[in-house]
Amino acid sequence: MSSGAHGAAASSVRYFRAHPVKRVGGVIEVPGDKSISHRALMLAAIASGETTIRGFLRSEDCIATRRALEALGVRIADAGADVVRVTGGGANGLRPPTGPLDLGNSGTAIRLMAGLLAAQPFDSTLTGDASLRQRPMERVAAPLRAMGARIATHDGGAPLEITGGARLEGTDYALPIASAQIKSALLLAALHAHGSTTVRSPGPSRDHTERMLKSMGARIETADDGRTVSLEGPQALHAAEIDVPGDLSSAAFFLVAGCLGAADGLLLRNVGVNPTRLGLLTILGAMGARIEIRNPRMAGTEPVADLHVEQVELKGTDVPPELVPLAIDEFPILFVAAAGARGPTIVRGADELRHKESDRLAVMAKGLATLGVRVEERPAGIIIEGGRLSGGTVDSHGDHRVAMSFAVASLISEGPIDIRDTAQVATSFPSFARVAAGAGLRVEERDSV
Ligand code: S3P
Repeated sequence: MSSGAHGAAASSVRYFRAHPVKRVGGVIEVPGDKSISHRALMLAAIASGETTIRGFLRSEDCIATRRALEALGVRIADAGADVVRVTGGGANGLRPPTGPLDLGNSGTAIRLMAGLLAAQPFDSTLTGDASLRQRPMERVAAPLRAMGARIATHDGGAPLEITGGARLEGTDYALPIASAQIKSALLLAALHAHGSTTVRSPGPSRDHTERMLKSMGARIETADDGRTVSLEGPQALHAAEIDVPGDLSSAAFFLVAGCLGAADGLLLRNVGVNPTRLGLLTILGAMGARIEIRNPRMAGTEPVADLHVEQVELKGTDVPPELVPLAIDEFPILFVAAAGARGPTIVRGADELRHKESDRLAVMAKGLATLGVRVEERPAGIIIEGGRLSGGTVDSHGDHRVAMSFAVASLISEGPIDIRDTAQVATSFPSFARVAAGAGLRVEERDSV
């Protein structure tokens, strides 16, 4: 287990009871984007000058990144409810930590930090909670080694031990999977490397790192529809003003809730609509959803909009495998939409879901089956036959997105859904139950059953 804020929240919110409701509606706002908040802290930490981050997500994952950077000597000050100021010490400003850096539950934090620390002159150890320690880390360690980094994994996972003082050289690396975390880790390492680094992806993945790097003065080239990214190192960054939009991955729960029960519409204000994150909208569109993108605008380097959703009768769909990386975090809630749709939904080419905060194919299949849904788990996908859900008790297996997805399932369930092991909701969306109540869901938080 990890410690600090992470452990404290773990003892306070262990269990949700989601009572069946028929309708949702109104106007809500979800908190800041997790991916962008992590990146803003890390890039600001190695930029020169003071960066102000507005809309920062104060969740356990991002707090883990903040603590790790503070342990590396970076000054980070609160300047409002969701505003932080980071005093960056430039490319050589990080200091040796006095102990292991604990990234809690966060895959993004540990993998990006590995890239950030690979070229530092000091040793560092990166670790996390039991779930994070089980996740694959060779996928980031191997390409960093190819650049000259000295980095050891334990049975392919964390803790990661980085030996300082390595001289990094640019590389040309073809990612076996479309992973924004690995692409970003390599770009962070490339900033400190000598020569050109090119990262080639089999398909598009979120491009927040590329956008933010450019806004902080980096010269970075993208080609091939964003699938190839090149950066000539070494390069220094300057401080910037960063606006973090609402997290599409948090909005996703309410977009699906709206499809299932917003008879008079539900409006979500200020949501990030970066095209590399919109796979869920495309898939829900194919299921017949009525989601309108209103008032599109830019928040700094990221596109944002207000999203309006109305209840419809969803129909099952065959999800094109190329959309998987563009909706990678939205599958748990998409499976709930599928359970509420007419006909089967088929997902293929999604084995990456087995390597998230839990094995999301197995955990969602089990939970949905417990609630009476006809579901067939496949090695790299799932088939879900829509219908109504009974109530019952499901286990989130400590996965925040699984927990929130089953809370939304109460819109199509006949009885209450008890969801075990929900403490990790605080890793991405600490105010979930409150925002859910604002939309009309009834999610009770309890310490124990
Ligand atoms: C993320 C990338 C995705 C995603 C994760 C956040 C990021 O992971 O699942 O929640 O911030 O770069 P992968 O890069 O492993 O696909």
